[in-house]
Amino acid sequence: MSNPSLLILPGDGIGPEVMAEVRKIITWFGDNRGLQFDVSEDLVGGAAYDAHGAPLSDETMAKAQEADAVLLGAVGGPKYDDLDFSLKPERGLLRLRKEMDLFSNLRPAQCFDALADFSSLKKDIVAGLDIMIVRELTSGVYFGEPRGIFEEGNERVGINTQRYTESEIERAARSAFELAMRRGKKVCSMEKANVMESGILWREVVTRVHADYPEVELSHMYADNGAMQLVRAPKQFDVILTDNLFGDILSDCAAMLTGSLGMLPSASLGAPMSNGRPKALYEPVHGSAPDIAGEGKANPIACILSFAMALRYSFDNGAEADRLEAAIEKVLADGARTGDLLGEEGVTPLSTSEMGDTIVAALNDSL
Ligand code: NAI
Ligand code: MG
Repeated sequence: MSNPSLLILPGDGIGPEVMAEVRKIITWFGDNRGLQFDVSEDLVGGAAYDAHGAPLSDETMAKAQEADAVLLGAVGGPKYDDLDFSLKPERGLLRLRKEMDLFSNLRPAQCFDALADFSSLKKDIVAGLDIMIVRELTSGVYFGEPRGIFEEGNERVGINTQRYTESEIERAARSAFELAMRRGKKVCSMEKANVMESGILWREVVTRVHADYPEVELSHMYADNGAMQLVRAPKQFDVILTDNLFGDILSDCAAMLTGSLGMLPSASLGAPMSNGRPKALYEPVHGSAPDIAGEGKANPIACILSFAMALRYSFDNGAEADRLEAAIEKVLADGARTGDLLGEEGVTPLSTSEMGDTIVAALNDSL
C-alpha cells in the first residue's frame, strides 16, 4: 500500500514560514510514530501568480483533487492589490474550495487554559471551552441567484438570494452529526426559521437527518440568539451547525472567544473519495500577515493545529492528533509564547522556528 498523499501549498507572506514548522512536525510523526506521507509541495496565490500568471495552475488543481489532504498556508499581500479580480491570490483559494466542492467548513473554538486571559470574556466563561462550528460553505446567500445591482424605477436595488436545496442542507447536517458522534454528541442547529423560508426548510431537513443519529442530542436556535449565547455561555455548545452567512459571522465570533488569530485552525471537507476519505483542505484561519512577514514572528500553531485536524479527519488518527494538541497545550502551559501571545511583561517571545522546535521537543517528551 502506498502512503497517503499530502499536498502542501504554503502560499504567500507568513504562509511559507508557518508551513516550514508544520514540515518539522510531519517529519517527527514519520520518524517516531511510523506515520509516513507522500508529501508534495506546490504554489498557490501570489506565489503561483508570480510563477505562472495565475493564482492556481490547472496542474496544481489536478494534484489537489488527487491528494488525500491539502494543507494550505495563506494567500495574498499588498503586492497583488492592483491585479484584476480574476487574478487575485484569493481566487486560487476560492477555486480550490469550489472545484473540490468543500461544503462543510469546520472551525473549532478551543480555549487553551494557559491563554484564557487572552479572551475578551471572563476566564471562567472560556476556560476549557471546546466547541466546533460547522458552516455550510458552498451555497446560501453568497451564491444564490438572482444577484446583482439593478435599476428599479429611478434608483438602484442590490439583490442577493438565500437559496438552499434539501440535499445541500442534508449533507451539511450529516457532517455535523458525524462529527458530534466523535465528540460530545450534541448538535445545535442555528437559522432564522422565524423570518426566513430557507430557515424553515433547514430546520425540517436537519430534524429529518437527525433520525439517523439517535445518540446525538439535537436542539435548534435562532441565529441571533445563538450569537448572544456564544458570548454569554459558550460552554453550553458542542457542535453548532449553521449556514454559510450565519456561519461566517458566528465562527469569527466564536474564534475570538479564545484569543489570537495565530491559534485558529480550520478544515473544509467535501464528499468521500473512492478510498473513503473526504476531499479535504486544512488551513489556518489567519491570512498572510504582510505586516510581520519575513520577520520570523508568526505563530505557527494555527497551521500546526490544522495538521492535527488532518490527522483526525482525513487520516482517522485521533490518538496522534490528541498527542499533537497535548504537546501544544504543554508548551503553552510552560510559558512558550510567540509575539502575538504576549500579554505578560518580561516574557521574551519565541520566533516562529523556535516555537516549532519547542513543540517538537514536547512531542519527544510524549514518547
Ligand atoms: P491577517 O490574518 O493576515 O492578519 C491580521 C493581523 O493578525 C495582522 O496584524 C497579523 O500580523 C496578525 N496575524 C495573523 N496571523 C498571525 C500569526 N500566525 N501569528 C502572529 N500574528 C498573526 O489578515 P489581513 O491583514 O486582513 O490580511 C492580510 C492578507 O491576507 C490580505 O491579502 C488578505 O486578503 C489575506 N487573507 C488571506 C486569507 C487566507 O489565505 N485564507 C485569510 C484572510 C486574509
Ligand atoms: Mg469571515
